[in-house]
Amino acid sequence: METFKKLFEHNRKWAAEMLSLDPDFFKRTEASQEPHFLFIGCSDSRVPTDRMTGALPGEMFVHRNIGNQCWSTDVNMLSVLTYAVNVLDVPHVIVCGHSNCGALKAAMGPASNGLVDHWLSDIRNTIRWHQDELEAIADPKERLAKLSRLNVLQQVGILSRTPVIRDAWSRGRRPMLHGWVYDIATGLIEGVVEQVDSVKKADELLPNN
Ligand code: CO
Repeated sequence: METFKKLFEHNRKWAAEMLSLDPDFFKRTEASQEPHFLFIGCSDSRVPTDRMTGALPGEMFVHRNIGNQCWSTDVNMLSVLTYAVNVLDVPHVIVCGHSNCGALKAAMGPASNGLVDHWLSDIRNTIRWHQDELEAIADPKERLAKLSRLNVLQQVGILSRTPVIRDAWSRGRRPMLHGWVYDIATGLIEGVVEQVDSVKKADELLPNN
């Protein structure tokens, strides 16, 4: 069977299974969404957002791009963030990196990836800011793992300084920011930074460069 046809086959089985467990599930979710989480992750196909967290349809609002970047100039990301915070009122925003990330590997190497190199420029800044710390790690795998955590910290830091987040916090509103790294080799999530819900906590826990 052609690969894409398997997707339809699986879809029909899944929909039938969901109905057998909860006959009103799709009818209920059709009416509205009240997600508890905004998940900002890497586009990597090995990061199964729903499966690794058990999130059901309606529970997680999702934005993904190469290297889970949160540029303060990215209108796409900012639109997702603004809608999630101001309209959906999500209690939690999660930035999730992952092990063995191709974007981070490429950013550590020489620039030769065409357009993608523009997208990697903020990761290259993070590498420059932490050059000594990264170069002190001899094992390339460990060095990449460290960069995954630094990248997540950097991105949560950027989120914490966006007007939409600062405005929400100044009005005593949520969300709480979290940074995770998903380990592709074990299927487990590591919390890198958790429960940042004020300017004070952001200043304590997140990079300001
Ligand atoms: Co990646």
